[in-house]
Amino acid sequence: MKIAILPGDGIGTEIVGEAQKLLALLREQGVAVETEIAPIGGAGYDAARHPLPDATLALARAADAVLLGAVGGPRYDTLPRELRPEQGILGIRKALSLFANLRPALLYPELAAASTLKPEVVAGLDIVIVRELTGDIYFGEPRGRRKTAAGDDEGFDTMRYSVPEIERIARVGFETARKRARRLTSVDKANVLDTSILWREVVTRLAAQYPDVTLSHMYVDNAAMQLVRNPRGFDTIVTGNLFGDILSDEASMLAGSIGMLPSASLDANGKGLYEPIHGSAPDIAGKNVANPLATILSVAMMFRHTFARPDVAERIEAAVRGALRQGLRTADIAQPGEAVVGTRAMGDAVVAALRAQ
Ligand code: IPM
Ligand code: MG
Repeated sequence: MKIAILPGDGIGTEIVGEAQKLLALLREQGVAVETEIAPIGGAGYDAARHPLPDATLALARAADAVLLGAVGGPRYDTLPRELRPEQGILGIRKALSLFANLRPALLYPELAAASTLKPEVVAGLDIVIVRELTGDIYFGEPRGRRKTAAGDDEGFDTMRYSVPEIERIARVGFETARKRARRLTSVDKANVLDTSILWREVVTRLAAQYPDVTLSHMYVDNAAMQLVRNPRGFDTIVTGNLFGDILSDEASMLAGSIGMLPSASLDANGKGLYEPIHGSAPDIAGKNVANPLATILSVAMMFRHTFARPDVAERIEAAVRGALRQGLRTADIAQPGEAVVGTRAMGDAVVAALRAQ
């Protein structure tokens, strides 16, 4: 099991460092993982003048799975778009055809009070957002800047989805729902966008092959509202790249903190890139305050989806619950008056809980 480790920028190195401690323990316990580190994002730009250096992409291609921290930082904000750190992530998703992004939003009972929503609204929350990741307005051409007929500057992007792209992500949606409560909500904007009208047609057609899954459709604006009004009304959501980006950040707040949410980005063969859904948080970088749990839970997803080792995934998830149950809280999930631990102490507690199993 070869893992390419791409810490990236900001808090990326700290949170990935905690995940590496966990991998070291698993190796000690006989789980045959090998790791190799390479720069991406701003770190890639610093090392090789590109957010996705050739050597990094080659390492990621050769590996069975990729663990990514986060990218971005104020030092790189003035670079042209094609050299910005975000292009490192977007580039690797596209180059490895990681079209299926799974973003579970699960509320640990210990953290019910950490959500900004009332505990009774979020208790028992268990949603998976299946976000398409290599298409849509993120990658659609043409895009760019031009002059209007009147001589004004304008910027433009293209939203587009082809039938095969919609079909393959919809299948992941149906199959994900099938392993859960069998309810799939497809989110679109079919009251306005042609892309969404096609999306809805294709998803509806496919539903005939999944009679055991109950499909419903929802406009994205309504979905944004329902997520905070009645989040437990959702089981599995399937949606496009842009809507999924927005809704998954919203869903993270239901779970208490964006610092808790892992993600998997998979290709058609189960190879995957695993990353926390949060960013590089430059404001707290290097201060030992970031929450490493989203990254550690991303490693659990890696064992489940790429390495077909649900046993290891469950052990990691149980260790995270153990640390939470012991009362360990990083700043993002602490209640007023609760004692706060740092990144390393939280990582150590998870490793200790794993060792004690
Ligand atoms: C995410 C992030 C990325 C995205 C950025 C960093 C390019 O927000 O993974 O959700 O927009 O997909
Ligand atoms: Mg995002």
